[in-house]
Amino acid sequence: MITLTDIAYVRSGVADLGAATRFATDIVGLELAASTEPGVAHLRADHRHHCLALVQGPSGVISSGFTVAGPDALDAAETELERGGTSVYRGSAAEARSRRVGEFIAFDDPFGNRLELVIGQETVARPVAFGRAAGITEFGHLCLDAPDVYDAHRYWSTRFNARVSDWIRDRACLLRIDPVHHKLAVFQGDRPGMCHMNFQVETIDDVFRNWHFLVSQGVEIEMGPGRHPQSTAIFLYFQGPEGFTYEYSFGVRRIEDDAAWVPRVFDPDEPGSIDMWLGPTRRVSSQPQLREETTDTERNRDGVAQRHPETVGGGVS
Ligand SMILES: [Fe+2]
Repeated sequence: MITLTDIAYVRSGVADLGAATRFATDIVGLELAASTEPGVAHLRADHRHHCLALVQGPSGVISSGFTVAGPDALDAAETELERGGTSVYRGSAAEARSRRVGEFIAFDDPFGNRLELVIGQETVARPVAFGRAAGITEFGHLCLDAPDVYDAHRYWSTRFNARVSDWIRDRACLLRIDPVHHKLAVFQGDRPGMCHMNFQVETIDDVFRNWHFLVSQGVEIEMGPGRHPQSTAIFLYFQGPEGFTYEYSFGVRRIEDDAAWVPRVFDPDEPGSIDMWLGPTRRVSSQPQLREETTDTERNRDGVAQRHPETVGGGVS
């Protein structure tokens, strides 16, 4: 059992780095960290150096990062994954530097989502210099796609310490790794991908102020404002460049008495099961997982592709 201590980051490939970065700062409100690496924009929302890295290259999610406790935990995770038949790639020093972590390992989940386990993610002490006063307090959760959410639950709850908090029947499994109702969700989707990335905001007023702002800027609202009955969070999903869905939310439930919590099953076809306020609901769009053998971050300075053993031949275990 691998213990995930937190979510760390999302790494996403973008064809137009300038436009995607401007959206992340001027519309979403994230801080753009000082550039130290051509072709990569690091976006900050909280104490983490960044929680979103936009990488010039093909559109698509590159990886989702999670933290583990330390070097021993990382080594143990690597051993455990390999024993279970998963090909594990150890990140190079340059790749770790780009992620602002000490070390990391990368591998695919059984559904084709690229995951990374990291140690030593950098913390930045100074207050976040938000690009816009959106009220963001932290990187809240990430949501991946898998064809069968029950299989995904089995994977996350046996290989990792994730526990299901609630089900939206066969459409979504909401998972916790700490008292927050969900820091990870898996949505039913035919292809691997990133369904959305969530940012918590400070008040309900921020959700509604952001809604009006996004509409005024011509941003496509995918769903909301509404309220999820599972987490009780007041949500707003909207579409960023290149198919990347962002979410703001406020008021997520905390499960303090872990042992006493009984996961519930909600029928997605029952009115109010997605939005208690009965607004229009839809499956928000996902950004597909990149399946190229390499991405820009995995090229050396001469532009020579370095092959990752687990992606050569498309090897999803
Ligand atoms: Fe969400």
